[in-house]
Amino acid sequence: MVIKNIDTKTVVAKFALNGYNVHPEAVRLILSSSLDVDTVVGEICRRCNGAFIITPEEVSQVIRELGKKKREVREHSVDKRTVDGRKDEIKILKDVTGKSACRGTIEDFVAHFNSRFEKISSILRNRVKAIPISSLSKIKAETVEIVGFVNSVRELNENRAMIEIEDRTGRARVYAEGKVKEQAMELFGDEVIGITGRPAGRSIIAERIVFPEVPMNGNGKSRKNFSVVFISDIHFGSNTFLHDSWDKFVSWVNCESGNRKLDDIAESVRYIFVAGDVVDGIGVYPDQDKELEIDDINRQYEFAAEQFDRIRKEVKIIISPGNHDAVRQAEPQPALPKEFSDLFSNNAIHVGNPSYIDVEGVKVLMYHGRSLDDIISKVSRLRYEKPQNAMIELLKRRHLAPLYGERSPIAPEKDDYLVIDDVPDVVHSGHVHTYGTAFYRGVLLVNSSTWQSQTEFQKKVNLNPMPGYVAVYQPGGNLFRLKFYS
Ligand SMILES: [Fe+2]
Repeated sequence: MVIKNIDTKTVVAKFALNGYNVHPEAVRLILSSSLDVDTVVGEICRRCNGAFIITPEEVSQVIRELGKKKREVREHSVDKRTVDGRKDEIKILKDVTGKSACRGTIEDFVAHFNSRFEKISSILRNRVKAIPISSLSKIKAETVEIVGFVNSVRELNENRAMIEIEDRTGRARVYAEGKVKEQAMELFGDEVIGITGRPAGRSIIAERIVFPEVPMNGNGKSRKNFSVVFISDIHFGSNTFLHDSWDKFVSWVNCESGNRKLDDIAESVRYIFVAGDVVDGIGVYPDQDKELEIDDINRQYEFAAEQFDRIRKEVKIIISPGNHDAVRQAEPQPALPKEFSDLFSNNAIHVGNPSYIDVEGVKVLMYHGRSLDDIISKVSRLRYEKPQNAMIELLKRRHLAPLYGERSPIAPEKDDYLVIDDVPDVVHSGHVHTYGTAFYRGVLLVNSSTWQSQTEFQKKVNLNPMPGYVAVYQPGGNLFRLKFYS
């Protein structure tokens, strides 16, 4: 940030030299702005000729106007560079923004779960020759296969569990033993699976649980000559936002880190993906107001826009919301509303959560990751410290929020946007504020850390964040982990 070497006393002194007193909140606003302090102070003094005290409202107005001017100047130079330089290729393949049609009626929920069932069962049917559940009792074969929604899972004893599974024609009891029982105990309910097993009347003794899975795509992408950066959970506006770490990150993206190797990597960066929680928001959790540096949602987004505006304009920034952002909480979430997205310069592209985006032939599925809380609390072997393992469970199930009715609210769109129908090259999530990457069947999984140190709320729930990590990926080539927090 520009404020690096300037403190409150210096700002107060600058006003005093011009004969003005200044409100403490006004000073804080100046310090949290990315604009040059002398420019801001000069403009305020010019405008407030004769005022007794400089108020936060006056400062806010000046910062807004100067920020807009600065953006216009930069945008002008971007247009020129785009004409002279490469043509960007960003395609938004799937995004609910502007297409939401649900009202939350029972009919909507029925259509939503039908959509989920159709999409996932058609993936499964490539590998499972399923019979209708209603015909189970008539089958004479030694082995049968079915596909259905998991209704419930019950542990019967140490070695045995019962899964109740349902398709359009009926319900069946599936008994799972040994290793299959262990798998059964990790089922979430409301997920679509296949079962292979021995028929026993209207029941099945399971030999195998078949997940929709992703095929091995072997990371067969040809090597690209550019890099993609993955970040999330910046929480602009929080008093635990890590200004210094963010400043280091911005300097690095702008190839100004002072380290030749790192600057070489930065030079190849063409896209930054931001997987939600751009700002800290207002009233997201109890007593959040005590942990805010900026307690107004408009000003939080203004600050966010100013910060992204510092990034060189050849880099395109693709931003989706999270549960702290000012959009509906139920997923899929649309992109930020115009009143906020308009604040950002035109190298920022706003999309919904989740979104499938194709950048120059690399398909990225960006999902904030709220369901990871549900998955980590359900499956005892999963840990917040290794979020990539929880993300594998999403890919296996081909659904981004397979646990319905827990902490991830769902908007019952007729088309279930949370099904992973197309296999992406990258799945990018955040939300849990830890960092982890993995390649799973050729798909890169990234959970991209945070720019916020531990909050009081996180202390209470024993969440230890891993802030300031950034994944930089050259598709088909290297994956770097950079750390901007020390
Ligand atoms: Fe977050």
